[in-house]
Amino acid sequence: MYKYLKINYSPKLKGTVTISGAKNAALPIIASSILSKSEVNFINVPEVADVKTLLKLLKNLGAEFKFENHNLKIDTSDINNTTAVYEIVKTMRASILVLGPLLARFGHCKVSLPGGCAIGARPVDLHLKALKLMGADISIEQGYINAKGKLKGTDIIFDKITVTGTENIIMAASLAKGKTRIINAAKEPEVTQLCEILKDAGVDIKGIGSDEIIIYGTDGELLEFKTTEIIPDRIEAGTYLAAAAITNSRITLNNVIPEHLEGILVKFKEMGFDFEENERNLTILPAKKIAPVKIVTTEYPGFPTDMQAQFMAIATQANGMSVIEERLFENRFMHVPELNRLGANISINGKVATIIGPSKLIGADVMATDLRASSALVLAGLIAKGETNVHRIYHLFRGYENFVEKFKNLGAKMEILNEEKP
Ligand code: UD1
Repeated sequence: MYKYLKINYSPKLKGTVTISGAKNAALPIIASSILSKSEVNFINVPEVADVKTLLKLLKNLGAEFKFENHNLKIDTSDINNTTAVYEIVKTMRASILVLGPLLARFGHCKVSLPGGCAIGARPVDLHLKALKLMGADISIEQGYINAKGKLKGTDIIFDKITVTGTENIIMAASLAKGKTRIINAAKEPEVTQLCEILKDAGVDIKGIGSDEIIIYGTDGELLEFKTTEIIPDRIEAGTYLAAAAITNSRITLNNVIPEHLEGILVKFKEMGFDFEENERNLTILPAKKIAPVKIVTTEYPGFPTDMQAQFMAIATQANGMSVIEERLFENRFMHVPELNRLGANISINGKVATIIGPSKLIGADVMATDLRASSALVLAGLIAKGETNVHRIYHLFRGYENFVEKFKNLGAKMEILNEEKP
């Protein structure tokens, strides 16, 4: 039985919210523990469903771990199985992150193909092409990627910027023989933190944070990791800022790196919101009048696709016409018909959504389709008159820690209920 989230009209929020560790940093970093000689300790690890899924996958391979109070101790020295099974991979595409490290350490592995997902086809061809260039022999059989071979450094040019693709190759190259040069690498802060951790663990890496990363592999020698704290989640932070924006409220975020939020803050400012910044704290101030906005999603440091749905929810309250172009994923407008069910005025033409605001929203039953779409529906639910029920809310728990508690602390009226049978 699925749970659903009931949200009652909550037109004002206030207070402070502490941002958790970044899911998208934690996932590759946990996968990188496959490259370690001994137990690894990561702190500030978010307790979200996707992290638990990856730990389940690693346990299935033979790793042991202890995860409490955001402190993860993981020991991969006894991994005795190199097959990442469909049953786990199908629930989380980022499981593909074990491919590079497993192949680099064991010289062979079998990882289920992740398949499609609600936001588009999302292939892994670029991961495979790069590993082949490094000398891997790769075949696809019965839905599984079979990879084997000893990896050698080489030049990799990504035709498209891919976050997990870059991370997979960085991990594979860390244990490969010789020099790997990744051209057109992703520059997301999560990629940067992975590089820094591997560098601290003994890998010679140059160009960290740039689009050209050079890795001198250890030729099979396992790494010695230092205890590391996962960076704050910039998308979770952006989502709480969006909650403040849609309700035109003042809230403060603790534990953020404002620099990581630059591409998002620019758009809030264009909409009329102002900020007070203070090292790891950030306060958003209400706008006099919410202005419409033009957004194009792109790779870091541009505006992230993972914030597109939340900004669309805010745009329903802007005074005028906003335009949002989604350049990364072809099917990431699934929240549009649901926002329209609440009374929004949004039309789609290919990759472009046009939002006419402001609209008076009225509570209704709506369906979450993916992680970020769910948060956009919750944001809209805050300002919709009456009661909004967001169904399939499990999507939300894949990436947001203590979502309901954090929102309630800010004054939002919401509760999780058991799905009723029709
Ligand atoms: C990561 C993030 C996700 C975010 C996305 C874009 C994690 C765990 N997930 O996903 O939250 O929305 O980056 O910022 O970090 N592509 C190919 N072939 C490939 C790989 C990618 O064509 O082999 C395409 C994709 O379909 C997409 C684009 O490249 O159009 C970017 O995708 P990518 O950066 O790989 O996304 P993920 O790493 O899956």
